[in-house]
Amino acid sequence: MKIINIVGARPNFVKIAPIMEAYRAYPDIEPLLVHTGQHYDKKMSGDFFETLGIREPDIHLGVGSGSHATQTAAIMTSFEPIVLEQKPDALLVVGDVNSTVACSMVATKLHVPVIHVEAGLRSHDRDMPEEINRVITDTISDLLFCTEQSGVDNLEKEGVSAYQVFLVGNVMIDTLVRQQPKLAALSTLEDLQLTPGGYGLLTLHRPSNVDDPETFSRILDALEVIQQDIPLIFPMHPRTRKNLESNVFGERIKAMTNLRLSEPLNYLGFLHLMSEAKVVLTDSGGIQEETTFLKVPCLTIRENTERPSTCEIGSNQLTGTQTQAILEAYHRVVNGTLKNPQIPPLWDGKAAERIVEIVYNQLKK
Ligand code: UD1
Repeated sequence: MKIINIVGARPNFVKIAPIMEAYRAYPDIEPLLVHTGQHYDKKMSGDFFETLGIREPDIHLGVGSGSHATQTAAIMTSFEPIVLEQKPDALLVVGDVNSTVACSMVATKLHVPVIHVEAGLRSHDRDMPEEINRVITDTISDLLFCTEQSGVDNLEKEGVSAYQVFLVGNVMIDTLVRQQPKLAALSTLEDLQLTPGGYGLLTLHRPSNVDDPETFSRILDALEVIQQDIPLIFPMHPRTRKNLESNVFGERIKAMTNLRLSEPLNYLGFLHLMSEAKVVLTDSGGIQEETTFLKVPCLTIRENTERPSTCEIGSNQLTGTQTQAILEAYHRVVNGTLKNPQIPPLWDGKAAERIVEIVYNQLKK
């Protein structure tokens, strides 16, 4: 039973680690790991393999950056001969990045069943490239694994047969659960002279936020106020850094003395900072889930979320990008007026085991 597994971008590495581990209980399964090279910097890629103990990819496509069409096409062109040569029994993809959709399209056209982990999430915002990737991947997938009930409901509404859909929990949380015990030995907070609960953690990289000057300016107005209250640590995605180097906002950020910029952090360092933060401000998808599991207040600086359970039962607040709304959400955190957050069902560290068991039984049929 040969299964090709795809990784390309940073969040994929975190999701594939427990799945690669879970395969070990099934000697009949021969997993191949393919890295598309969508992310290639050591800090965006190599460090994650080391920290999470993911073995070296069997095949590296080395496609690198480009426009959406260029990147997606490059992945497809270089992945097709791999599928033809390897003749896998299935393809497993995770998440919603360009690598996910590109490889799924190649496999399905070659009649290889596609398994999508993290299926069914919908922001219902087609301006978001990830939403397009999610919709296409789910449409052509044969087995669909969901992290939360909204995913199951969305797929049902879209006409996907119930027998293809499984609510299994969250592989990103599997990794968190496995790595969490290592945090106690780290000195991340001391190194940055931070105290538990005494700082905020910030990430921003969505094109809709960092590429749009008006939106970015409104977000900066809010950050300007918040950083007067608590230090804000801002590990920067390469895309955000490039933006700041080439526009007027770089100067504004430099002037905020309590907003501390850093390179992208490694997985454990970031998890450590996240778990002790007073508040996390982000436009990421996965961080909404990780903060929910950690019960750390999260402000999601976006107009919508594909992960509604993090707001409905978790510690997440969807703020939009208006300055005042971000500040109001921040004040709810400071004033302790948030409801008691809960962890979504099945986010227990065992999602990958469930997925691999189902995959094995389905492919055996
Ligand atoms: C991608 C995903 C996004 C995910 C994010 C996580 C898509 C459509 N987007 O966005 O869903 O949240 O990864 O980080 O797949 N760059 C580097 N070094 C790298 C990688 C990227 O410098 O190792 C720079 C390049 O200038 C590149 C830009 O970042 O053009 C954007 O990279 P890309 O992979 O296209 O999208 P992300 O914004 O990282």
